[in-house]
Amino acid sequence: MRHLIDPMDLSVEEIDGLLKLADDIIASPDKYANACARKKLATLFFEPSTRTRLSFEAAMLELGGSVLGFSSADSSSATKGESVADTVKVVSCYADIIAMRHPKEGAPCLASMKSDSPIINAGDGGHNHPTQTLTDILTIWREKGRLTDMTIGCCGDLKFGRTVHSLIKAMSRYANIRFILISPEELEIPDYLKEEVFGEGGLEYIKARKLDDVIDQLDVLYMTRVQRERFFNEADYIRLKDTYILDMKKLKHAKKDLSILHPLPRVNEISVEVDDDPRACYFRQALNGKYIRMALILTMLGLAKGEMN
Ligand code: NCD
Repeated sequence: MRHLIDPMDLSVEEIDGLLKLADDIIASPDKYANACARKKLATLFFEPSTRTRLSFEAAMLELGGSVLGFSSADSSSATKGESVADTVKVVSCYADIIAMRHPKEGAPCLASMKSDSPIINAGDGGHNHPTQTLTDILTIWREKGRLTDMTIGCCGDLKFGRTVHSLIKAMSRYANIRFILISPEELEIPDYLKEEVFGEGGLEYIKARKLDDVIDQLDVLYMTRVQRERFFNEADYIRLKDTYILDMKKLKHAKKDLSILHPLPRVNEISVEVDDDPRACYFRQALNGKYIRMALILTMLGLAKGEMN
């Protein structure tokens, strides 16, 4: 049984298979309408979510399967003091596959050791978010037609933003990728990532403090929200929250074929005026999240050709 805890749990070939399957689902959704008949997905969300949980649920429903679960820790036995391990052990008796989000780093990994069904990490604290990364990769692939030879700017909260951590790791395996990491000093990527991905002989990256200084070099701009819930102190959040705001004035200097991604939710970091620019991909990206999760569920349940095993 395979789980998906870290984006590196998937090989580049497996990601390629998921992208192709997602493309086929987009082209011929009817072919897959009953593919998961009688299968159940449980969504265990100990932390708030809109897109991730609902796109997982929509994905399973569009595959003809059913969904069960909870959308906040308050409505689960966690409030009675039940451990994550026990909750998952029990839910894996009811569901064929489980998507789980938890505020503590490592909780889905621990759950995977106890579960009798495959676990998908739907976000663990400030650590990883592999299915957002699959969504991002599908979006880059569909928008750009390639996953190699590009400069990707990640902007905002690179310290606590788990989507950035997972994206950097996953993209580090494609040829000729250069990262520009744009953040205030306090919100730079964690040291372990600097060592793992950008260490000696690793990927090339440039550090920047101002989006204006580098925006003209970017093929992809990945904007992120400052992760309020992970700050120790509200005053620091307030000081840093509006460091970067992408607006049409800033975009004047960007490439004509720039792709602007954002995992969403956005707070202030992209002005609404940018939404109508063809370079804004974030709502298409949210839709891609459903298709790649359909591909992932099919594959992890062994219902796709060339499945993970
Ligand atoms: C992200 C997350 O939960 O990490 N949201 C999402 O899943 N699309 C990004 C965020 O909350 O800022």
